[in-house]
This record gives sequence, structure tokens and C-alpha cells, in this order.
Amino acid sequence: MEEKKFSDFRSDTVTRPTKKMRLAMAEAEVGDDVLGDDPTVKKLEALGAEKIGKEAALFVPSGTMGNSIAVKVWTNELEEIIVEERSHIYNMESTHITFVSRVTPRPLPSNRGTMDPELVEKAIRKPAVHIPRTSLICIENTHNYWGGAVIPLENFKDLREVADKHGIKIHLDGARIFNASIASGIPVKEYTKYADSVMFCLSKGLSSPIGSLLAGSKEFIEKARRVRKLLGGGMRQVGIIAAAGIISLTEMIDRLVEDHRRAKKLAEGICNLPGIELNPDHVETNIIFLKFNHPKISLQEFLNRLKEKAVLALGLAGRIRLVTHKDIDDEDVEKAINAFKEILEY
Ligand SMILES: Cc1ncc(COP(=O)(O)O)c(C=O)c1O
Repeated sequence: MEEKKFSDFRSDTVTRPTKKMRLAMAEAEVGDDVLGDDPTVKKLEALGAEKIGKEAALFVPSGTMGNSIAVKVWTNELEEIIVEERSHIYNMESTHITFVSRVTPRPLPSNRGTMDPELVEKAIRKPAVHIPRTSLICIENTHNYWGGAVIPLENFKDLREVADKHGIKIHLDGARIFNASIASGIPVKEYTKYADSVMFCLSKGLSSPIGSLLAGSKEFIEKARRVRKLLGGGMRQVGIIAAAGIISLTEMIDRLVEDHRRAKKLAEGICNLPGIELNPDHVETNIIFLKFNHPKISLQEFLNRLKEKAVLALGLAGRIRLVTHKDIDDEDVEKAINAFKEILEY
């Protein structure tokens, strides 16, 4: 029996490594990275630092670990950090802010992920007997739960000004910073120069099987390396995985434009269907978040019926997420649009 091919729109993390990645992984030169002996990891870290415009970078197993290390390095216990209320770091990373760093998050509302600098400044607290010191602002670009929204460069400048005025740091959760750069046409370094540290993922649209990079000054990365070890993120012959990351950074960035084009096409194809609340103008990169509100079909029932038609989407907090990536082609998009129509138009 022919295997049923699912068109998997749940996430860009489902991308499989390319053939070239698998070959590079098989042939990677490796050593014990905790002892500083892995030449492939060193090459990836140097390349990542150069691409992102920072002095140094550290290979970490996941974006979550990269973010948690950054918060830990930039804060002391009993401090507070400013996060956007729908941000990944605040909602989806198992509370490492409080559990690992023992600081409290101060979530702020935003305009599709862009926090008002005046509001941020008002939220910055000077320490007193009842009050924690604010030590960090976190920005997410692109913003996952605002449907892959690109945060404007102007906002980075404004938040940097606020941070400098109050002597606090900025961490950029740039899990998909290359998507932001490809969509806006603004070089990635233009965004990152306003942040003290940046985490970016190799394992999402850039198609590596595993891994993220955390980047910043040499001093920051030295401290980050110690925190990575205590969190159990010191890996040994990890050049095997880093080899794929090098291909992510050299060959997989420019193709993101295709993912953006397909996400837009999908959004335009489904936005007027009954039960779908979606503004296709809000689809700027590879993520679609839509509200599902159908009089006869529940969200879960709809996802099940899509699955029967070999289309996978993710239900998250009463909404549906669809993400385009390397393993989604034009045919998958057509198939998804038709599946939506068949279920919702009849
Ligand atoms: C914006 C953002 N930050 C961080 C992460 C965490 O990455 P990981 O799944 O590698 O821990 C994700 C994962 O989806 C994300 O979307």
C-alpha cells in the first residue's frame, strides 16, 4: 500500500535534514566539545557569530536552552524582566524565567508583538524594599504567536534607547530572525546591533535536525558556556550535529522567501471561508495564526477532518497555526486550500 503523504503545516521544526546535511553529518570532523576540541562546532560558532554580527556564539541543543541561558547570565535573583505577553519565552518555555533564573517576568501588551517603548519605560522599576530591579528586556522577532509578525527596526532603536537610559540589557529571541530579515529586506545585523544577546534557531526554517546558537560579546559567551554546562547542555562529539548547522547558515537562508510566498498564498486561499478569521495582510513570513469560529464544527473536529485529508495543522489556545517550510511545496499548499474548502464550504 502506498504510504499516505501528510502535508505537515504544524511547525517549521518538522523539517527533515537535507541530503547534503546528512552527508556532512556523516563525514564531520569531531572532538570533545566540552573540552573545546570539536573543530566543526568551532566553525559553526564562528560562522554564526559573524552572520549575526556578534563577537562570539555558543552552540546549544535548543532555542529554549539558549533563551534560558541568556536570562540567567543577564539577571540576578529577585530581579524582574520585561517580556511581551504572548512571547514564547514567557508562555512556552516551562517557566525557566522563575525556575532557573529565579526572576519574575513582567508581561506587557503589544501591537502584534511590538511593545510601546513608553509603556516599557513605565514598567521599568527601580529597586526598593518591596520592589525588584528590572534588569532585562526581551524582544521576539519574528513573533511566533503574533503569526510570524516582523518587529520594525525602529522599535529596536527605541527600546535600545530606553534600555541604555536605565542601564538594562536587551535579549533578542531571534528563533526566526532570518525570516524577519528576508521579509523586511533589512540585514540581520541591523536588528541584532540593538540587542546585547541573540538566540537564533537552526532547527526551524533553516532545516537542521537539532540546535540553536546563542550570540553576544566574548565575555557574555564565556559566562553562557558555564551556564550551558550546569543545565546539562555540554555535548561531546557534537560536530555531528553542527555540520548540519553550517549548511543551514550557508545554504538555507535565502530560500525562506519561498516559505513566505507560500504562507501568503495559503492565507489568501482560506481567509474568506466560513469559520475562518484571518487577515492575510498580517501574514508577513511563514506563520499563519487564525481564529476558528464555526457554528457547526469545533476546532478539534476541524483539525481531525483536515488530518483525514492528510493535512496537519496545530491547535493552540483556541486558534489554528499553519507554518510553511522546506518540506511544504506548492502542491501541499493547493492541497491544504482544497481541504479547507471541502470541509468548510459544504
Ligand atoms: C519564538 C521562539 N523562541 C524560542 C523557541 C524555542 O525553541 P526550541 O523548540 O528549540 O526550544 C521557539 C520554538 O518554537 C520559538 O518559536
